[in-house]
Amino acid sequence: MQIASLSIKNPFILAPLAGFTDLAFRLLCKEYGAGLVYSEMISCHGLVFKQQNTIEMLDTCADERPVAMQLFGAEAKIMGEAAAILSDYPIDIIDINMGCPVKKVIKKGSGSALMKTPQLAAEIIKAVVKNSSVPVTVKIRTGWNHQQIIAADFAKMAEDCGAAAVAVHARTWSDGFSGLVDWPVIKEVKKAVNIPVIGNGDVLCYDDGIKMMAETGCDGVMIGRAALGAPWIFSSTINPQPSINLRLRALHRHLQLIEQYITDRSVLARSKNQAARYFKGIPGGSAMRQNIYATKAFSELKNLIASFAETSAP
Ligand SMILES: Cc1cc2nc3c(=O)[nH]c(=O)nc-3n(C[C@H](O)[C@H](O)[C@H](O)COP(=O)(O)O)c2cc1C
Repeated sequence: MQIASLSIKNPFILAPLAGFTDLAFRLLCKEYGAGLVYSEMISCHGLVFKQQNTIEMLDTCADERPVAMQLFGAEAKIMGEAAAILSDYPIDIIDINMGCPVKKVIKKGSGSALMKTPQLAAEIIKAVVKNSSVPVTVKIRTGWNHQQIIAADFAKMAEDCGAAAVAVHARTWSDGFSGLVDWPVIKEVKKAVNIPVIGNGDVLCYDDGIKMMAETGCDGVMIGRAALGAPWIFSSTINPQPSINLRLRALHRHLQLIEQYITDRSVLARSKNQAARYFKGIPGGSAMRQNIYATKAFSELKNLIASFAETSAP
C-alpha cells in the first residue's frame, strides 16, 4: 500500500488503542510484521501546552517506523499548531481522530462528534495538512447513527482537504464498539475516493483481514482489539491459536520492550493489562490473569510469568 510517498510493506496495520499502543507494543507488533503502527490518541492541547504525560506519548524510535501519531481535538488552530510540533518528530504520518465515541472526547466536539460537524472537520483537516511535513490520514466511523451513514461523503471531503488516506471503523458512533460491522460502507468509501482506504472493525485474524480486503476493495486493514495479547496476528504464517510456548515467547519479548522503553508511572498497570491478555483462552488462563492483576511490582509480574513458563511450557 502506498500512502502519498510512503510505501507500506504489509497492509496489516496496528490500530490506535488508548492505554495500549505505546512504543513497546508498537515495536512488538512491528516485529511480528505490522506494516504500519498507530500511536494512542494524543491531545492537541496537551501537546501545544507541553503537558508531561502528553510529551511522554511521543516517544518513538527508528525500529518502529513507519509510525503514525494520532491527534485529537476540536479547534483547527490548536490542531494545526500540534501538527507543526509533531512534524519535528521522526514520524511518518499524522492521523486525525474523527472516530472516538468516548464521552469525555465527544463532549468537547472531538473524535466522532466531528462527523456531525463536517465543516469544522474540514477546517481541522486543512489546518493539520497545512502544518504537517508528513502525510495526514483521518480515522472515521460510518456516521453518527444508522439514520446518517455519511462515511463516503465525509471521506471525499477529507480527500478534498488534503488527507492522504482514510481509515474507516465500520460502525456508527451509536454502535460504540459492538454490533455488526458494516463492511458494505467500506466498499462505498473505496468507490468514493482515490486515496487509500483502510478498513477496520472486528478483524479477528489474518484471514479475516484478507477477506475484508477482497470483499470491500479496501487497500489495508487496521486491527485493534484482536492484536492485544496476540501480536502474531500481523503474520500470515503463525497459527492464530499458537502454542503456549509461542505465546510466552511473545509476552517475554513484550515485557523486555516495556522494560527498555516505558518509564512512566503507569508502567505496572499497563503491563498487567497487556500481560493478562496473553492468557485468554488457554488452560489455567483465568487463574493466571487474577494472579497477574494481584502483582504489586514489575519484577513480581516477571517472576510470576517465568514460573508459569517453567511449569506449563518447559
Ligand atoms: C481500548 C481501546 C482504545 C481505543 N483507542 C483509540 C484511539 O486512541 N484512537 C482511535 O482512533 N481509536 C481508538 N480505538 C478504536 C480502535 O482503534 C478501533 O477502531 C476499534 O477498536 C475497532 O477495531 P477492532 O475491532 O479491530 O478493535 C480504541 C478502541 C479500544 C477498544
